[in-house]
Amino acid sequence: MDQNEKMSWFRDAKFGIFMHWGIYAVNGIDESWSFYKGDISFDDYMAQAKGFTAEHYDPKRWAELFKKIGAKYTVLTTKHHDGFALWDTAVSDWNAKDSSPAGRDLIGPYCDAMREAGMKVGLYFSHLDWHHPDYPSIHPHSDEWWADKIWTAPPAGEPDDLVRWEKFMTFYRAQLGELMSRFGKIDLLWFDGDWERTSEQWRFEETKEYLRSFNPAVIMNNRMHGEGDYKTPEQAMPITRPEGDFEYCVTLNNSWGYQPKDNNFKSARSIVYMLAECVGMGGNFLLDVGPKPDGTIDERSEALLLEVGDWVTKHGEAIYCTRAGLGHDLFSGASTLSKDKKTLYLFYYDIPGGPIPLRGIASEIKRISVVGSGEEVPMQRQQGFLSMPGIAWIDLPKSACDPLCTVLKVEFDEPITLVAGVGVRIE
Ligand code: GLC
Repeated sequence: MDQNEKMSWFRDAKFGIFMHWGIYAVNGIDESWSFYKGDISFDDYMAQAKGFTAEHYDPKRWAELFKKIGAKYTVLTTKHHDGFALWDTAVSDWNAKDSSPAGRDLIGPYCDAMREAGMKVGLYFSHLDWHHPDYPSIHPHSDEWWADKIWTAPPAGEPDDLVRWEKFMTFYRAQLGELMSRFGKIDLLWFDGDWERTSEQWRFEETKEYLRSFNPAVIMNNRMHGEGDYKTPEQAMPITRPEGDFEYCVTLNNSWGYQPKDNNFKSARSIVYMLAECVGMGGNFLLDVGPKPDGTIDERSEALLLEVGDWVTKHGEAIYCTRAGLGHDLFSGASTLSKDKKTLYLFYYDIPGGPIPLRGIASEIKRISVVGSGEEVPMQRQQGFLSMPGIAWIDLPKSACDPLCTVLKVEFDEPITLVAGVGVRIE
């Protein structure tokens, strides 16, 4: 399938919701890493499954909320590194139906609800599985710090057991097959946990072929030693524009999953800033929320999502279906361009102390207005010289400003022409 065609919904979607839901929400501790690092014993960690009730799980409510705040796709953890499957996998009892009071498959209803609400369906899946008895049957590809962890590899000095590894691979393949065949069309696979084995050990090439046999258009992230469709910077936002497609994922507070003690929530302003900068670089923004063990969303998270969502929906035209905008040398904030390049959107984070400069625009500016209200904004163009256009000074009144971020819509009759460097015109 043609890559541009395949990536087109993803490139237009811009804003998605990530959900880390699993047994770690019961004690409110780090997903999987807490037992790996020894903060809690393996057995105590796994015993959390007894408290995973999904009692008030209503994915239609999730879908309603995510749609309302302007998300175009969602990604839910089907299985984290702890191996606990949220669907009733046939190849292990370690799943929500057989090993927790939830007592049922939780992935099917999620897929249906998101699809019905018109959002694309994404599934997170960890390649590595620190719970499966046959996973630690071969040694990692290098002697990095994880090499002798019992969840990962046989004890040092012991040979690889390829028979057991083959058993694991059969299980791994079967789980992926279930996810791709049981729940309707899966639009996106969000992989994680590739680092303990090589591409050859994982047989990623073969696996990708297999997954495409269910849906040739399925988008896969690059957590297959970089071999997927797009990059996934996490928590630390890229400073400059990454090459190719990317999606920046970030948590609302410091945790991927539900942790009631974590009150270090980001402000709506900082989330909007990250979203704008991300979209301005041509990427997607995937905002993570961790549901409670009963399936409801934490009140603090929901309030923050709604605050961000108000801003997103008000400024949708500057976000969805846009492409990367200008460099920060031309405008001191993020910006996006409409696909026909006749509209430029400027994201302005402050309350201006005077006219705002915009540089490097060779095209004639038809009109500038504020997104949301439509209020027209005056502009003074300082005269340029030869091939260098002058600065456009935009007089944004304080009264027209949005407290989180004001978006200015700059319209042109023709696709925008820019000037870069010391005066070279670029298309
Ligand atoms: C890291 C962590 C994992 C989390 C993921 C989300 O890879 O290992 O716990 O799910 O980031 O990007």
